[in-house]
Parts: sequence; structure tokens; C-alpha cells
Amino acid sequence: MAEYIIKGGTALSGEVEVHGAKNAVLPILAAALLTPKSTILNCPKLSDVAVACSILEHLGCSVSRQDDCINVDAGQLVSSVIHENLMREMRSSIVFLGAIIARCGQARVSMPGGCELGPRPINLHIEALEKLGVKIVEDHGYLDCTVPDRLRGASISLDFPSVGATENIMLAACTAQGETVIHNPAREPEINDLAAFLQKAGAKIYIGENGTIYIQGVERLNSVQHRVIPDRIEAATYLCCAAITGGQVLVKKAKTSHMTALLPLLGEAGCRLEATEDSIYLVASERPKAPKIVRTMPYPGFPTDAQSPLMAMSCIAEGSTIFVENIFESRYKHVAELARMGAKIKVEGKVAVVEGVPGLHGAEVICTDLRGGACLCCAALAAEGQSRIKDIYHIQRGYQDFEPTLKALGADIAVI
Ligand code: EPZ
Repeated sequence: MAEYIIKGGTALSGEVEVHGAKNAVLPILAAALLTPKSTILNCPKLSDVAVACSILEHLGCSVSRQDDCINVDAGQLVSSVIHENLMREMRSSIVFLGAIIARCGQARVSMPGGCELGPRPINLHIEALEKLGVKIVEDHGYLDCTVPDRLRGASISLDFPSVGATENIMLAACTAQGETVIHNPAREPEINDLAAFLQKAGAKIYIGENGTIYIQGVERLNSVQHRVIPDRIEAATYLCCAAITGGQVLVKKAKTSHMTALLPLLGEAGCRLEATEDSIYLVASERPKAPKIVRTMPYPGFPTDAQSPLMAMSCIAEGSTIFVENIFESRYKHVAELARMGAKIKVEGKVAVVEGVPGLHGAEVICTDLRGGACLCCAALAAEGQSRIKDIYHIQRGYQDFEPTLKALGADIAVI
């Protein structure tokens, strides 16, 4: 299994171009099932995207990729089943459910396995789809979905603004009969990007001031071309890498308006930030100051996916930071690995208190999940001496060219 060897201590310096957002392209690939042909631009080269493309191929789509452009022809589907192996490879495959049902009138998908972030319940997805007229029976770890009559619009109120559930409802409602209203939906930029793709394909979607989503069902969607928004979490990760190493970085092709919760915290940490609409230039201070408190919240609050990269920075900051992880049940698996590098962190339920230390030391650590893995690399870049980072396949799920990008910023990183 590949590993990173990182020798810490170099202040990163240089420029980074942000790729398309993983969490936008995945639901948009599911939405491609509802259109005859789709051309999706600015797609990142990630293993999660490859899994989504293989799901489409298993369903009967022809999928081709040139550089950052993916073409999907969904004219002839041959299946409405997602087998367990593919579902286990990527938990977020559940977002295909709504699209398969809308297209085929049925679906059989394996229950998504748990993952490193704790159990990943899908009760909100199931309750919402049943409101739209789907009959769902759990059968030996599979969800057997049928539509006895037809998909009918409904008023759905989510008791938690789940990103995946919001996406599944949107995908199932576009061609349902009548109006669907989603109250308390997720409001992440990736939701708006999915809505933009669907609107271009002819869907009648309107997002109100307070975020409520109104969908008038239409007969069918047509072919579409769409460019995916930049990945705000990839941008956040490289900013944290520069901040922890006392370096400076120009992050380009970003969408600064998607990062309003993170940038002030980097400012609080003593970084100087110059932002334009699509770029952020960060100059770190010698040693970061500890942000007082970081609460992860649904968008536009602080994103849970940036919690661990920012925690890496707070490990060596002056002062203590309180993290409150409000989105996932157990998203602190990276803490034990950071402790091996000398971090002083106490976890109590959803709260983690990080007491900044003057410096970390290299260690052998294991990636626990995608963002936790990025966090360990971030910490290793500032640690004294060498670190070995194992199970880096987690990182390759969500960061294209992670190692060459860090190398270009001056990091001493190698893959073995
Ligand atoms: C999406 O996951 C993202 N993944 C996650 O990014 C991100 O962390 C998350 O949204 C929150 O922003 C993709 O978009 C592919 P949720 P998702 O449904 O849709 C609970 C990354 O690193 N919940 O908003 O699974 C759930 O357990 C990944 O790129 C229910 O209880 O997130 C969690 O605690 C990690 N019942 C919370 O809601 C449900 O039916 C947020 O989940 C659904 C969710």
C-alpha cells in the first residue's frame, strides 16, 4: 500500500489551482441519469469520481473522460441495481438512489456501509422518498424500491439539513407529478450547483431566500453541459497547509464566497489574507494564534470537512482551540494519530480541546478517513523530522495530485 514520507519544517510557498468540487460532481453524475446526454466540465481526477462513473456504466450508461471533461450517455439503461461492492466503495453512492428511481421506477441498492465518520444513517433519505411515492423494503442489507403508482410531488421538511437527502429528493422530484417543496434543506454550494445542472437540463427548480427548494415536476430532462464549481474544501486544505508551516500561498480558481466561515478563522490565527472573487492569497504568521472556538455547522456555518485540516494548524498554535463537531457523530479519529506527533488534544463527545504546543515531531501515522488523512499530512509538513503516512488511498479519494501540488509548494514529500 502506498505511503507518504514527509520531512517537515519547510514553509510552503507558491500557487495552487483548485479543481472542481468532489461533492458537486458526485450528485451531478447521478443527475446525468435523468438526461439523454451530459457533458460535465471541471471534473477532478479522484477515485470517488471513478467509482461514480463505474456505477453509471453498471447501470448501462456509456461514460468517457477527456482531461477534466466527463461525457455520459444515459440513453439506454440496462439495470437499476447498485451492487454491494460498489456501495461499500463509496458511501455517498446512496445519492444515485433518487435518480435511478426517477428514471427506472425502481431501484435495488445495498445499504451503504458505515464509514470512518460513524454510522451513516439514511433515514431522512428513506422517509422523504416514501413521501414522494416510493415503496422501500429492506431486504438482507438491500433496499428494494418500487413506485406502485408514480412519483408525486410532496411537501418535505427535513429535521436535519442533510446534504445527501436534499440531493436525493431533488433528483427524485424533478420528473415527479406536481410540486415538491423541501423545507430546511441543505444550503451547501454543491446543492446550488446540482440545481444549476438540473435547471439547464430543463428542470423547474426555484430556491427561495430562506433556502426552501420548490420543484415543479416536468415530463423529462434534456441533454446538458455544465461546469462544476471549485472545491472549497480542497482550497481550505491548502490554506491550512500554508498557515501551519508559516508560509504563503496563492489559491487560484477558488470561489471565495463559498469560504466565508473559514477565512475569518485563518485571520484570527494571525494569517494575512487578500481575497478576490476567485483567489485567496494567504501569508501566515511565524506561529499561528489559536482560534478560540470552531463549531462545525451546516452551510453557511463552518464546514465539517475543514475541521480536521484546521485542527492540524491549531495543534501548534499559541493558545487553545475548542472544536465542536456538530455534524458527524465521530469525526475525531485523526486525534489519536495527531497525538502520536505530540499534539495535546482532549476529546469529550463532540468537543475536542486542542492545547497548542510549540511544535510537533514526525511519527508513523495512519489515515483514518479522507479529511483526517489530509490533516495528518498538514501536521507532518510542520512537524520536526520525518513522518510516514499510511493508507493514503483515503486522501486520493478527495484530492487530485495532492503530493505533486505540495511538492510544487516546496514540501519535502515522497510516495513510497
Ligand atoms: C455530504 O455527506 C458530503 N459528502 C460530506 O463530505 C460532508 O461532510 C457532509 O455532506 C456534510 O456537509 C458528499 O457530498 C459526497 P449529510 P452526507 O447527509 O450527504 C446525518 C467529504 O469529506 N444524517 O449532510 O452524507 C449524518 O449521519 C465528505 O468530502 C442522518 O442522521 O452528509 C450526519 O451526522 C465527508 N440521517 C449528518 O446528518 C440521514 O438520512 C450530516 O449528513 C442523513 C444524514
